Amino acid sequence: MKKIEFFQHSINEDDINRVSSVLRTIFLTTGEEVAKFEQNFSRYISKKYTVGLTSCTAALHLSIIALGIGAGDEIITTPMSFCATSNAILHAGAKPIFIDVEEETGNLNAELIESAITKRTKAIIPVHIYGQMCDMKRISQIAKKYDLKIIEDAAHAIEASRDSIKVGQLSNAVCFSFYATKNITSGEGGAVSTDDETLADALRMLRLHGIDKIAIERYTKRYKHWDMLLLGWKYNMDNIHAALLIGQLKRIEELWQKRNKLCKIYEEELGTVKGIRLLKTLPNTKHARHIFTVLVPSERRDLILWSLQDHGIGVAVNYRPIHLLKYYKEKFGYREGDYPIAEKIGKSTISLPLYPLLNEKDIIYIAKIFKKVLNKK
Ligand SMILES: Cc1ncc(COP(=O)(O)O)c(C=O)c1O
Repeated sequence: MKKIEFFQHSINEDDINRVSSVLRTIFLTTGEEVAKFEQNFSRYISKKYTVGLTSCTAALHLSIIALGIGAGDEIITTPMSFCATSNAILHAGAKPIFIDVEEETGNLNAELIESAITKRTKAIIPVHIYGQMCDMKRISQIAKKYDLKIIEDAAHAIEASRDSIKVGQLSNAVCFSFYATKNITSGEGGAVSTDDETLADALRMLRLHGIDKIAIERYTKRYKHWDMLLLGWKYNMDNIHAALLIGQLKRIEELWQKRNKLCKIYEEELGTVKGIRLLKTLPNTKHARHIFTVLVPSERRDLILWSLQDHGIGVAVNYRPIHLLKYYKEKFGYREGDYPIAEKIGKSTISLPLYPLLNEKDIIYIAKIFKKVLNKK
């Protein structure tokens, strides 16, 4: 039986050699490779500053803290995300306020934001789900009207743009993930990009315990005592992870082109199949093509998932909505019916394999198996 993994990374020999070179130096933690990655990433994303971190969860958490948001504050976000988004809000001591999503895209419905704003609302965290951007123009208008911050969760969407707006362009901070299955990956990793120098400085300090000198400064210059100015975390990216990302970043558009092509084949193969639905790619949009989902009849979703696995095809569910996870139900009293569209997507979604190592024939094969198991008793 042919086996197709849900995900395979695109790390090549050059990437491995770059990591080996770092391992042969004396300096493994945050240093020159991190600085180089941050510089290259800032250029790619068209932001002035990037702060390399250990995860996107850390990126969201520190962005919230660095923007002065905490206990007693509320942040509006979507239930259709990985729980990292709202967990970061909780870690910062604030409260996530969910709003429902758009049926067509799965993205947060910007038209619902105003009805969720209270005196305690301090920020909006839009999540560009699967790689397609939320309506940032509308979100930015609302944020200006109510004096709210915007922190983008762009874990899926490094390459994205919509209506000539790039990811990160209309927010205070934009957060990225380099987790094992992401478009570029270092196993674990993340970053925040921003144009705000004060915010970037605060993030750099917060990523390393709030101390005022990082190891490389202590190591390469004449020893200076460091001080701790505020209570920070231990979220700094190291040279090994940065080395793994530098080469992938150079190939990021090439990798995107390949995934985009594969998605178009999926769309051709599955777009007209009865009984299923594909999410819509909006016009004037560069979809980052992180995850390819198909919506199937909810009562058959798990059977189809298992059947695909039985045929050797890797699958995932992105996502069952956050508000129905046990912790959130128990802590906040959420119930089925609270965010019906997110729930509908959560019950019917299946993610199919999507990564540059796949070819056209693989996608046609997956689609063929998918159609075969769709209506199997
Ligand atoms: C939408 C979204 N936000 C945040 C995260 C958290 O990223 P990380 O694993 O780098 O903390 C993920 C990870 O899968 C994600 O999919």
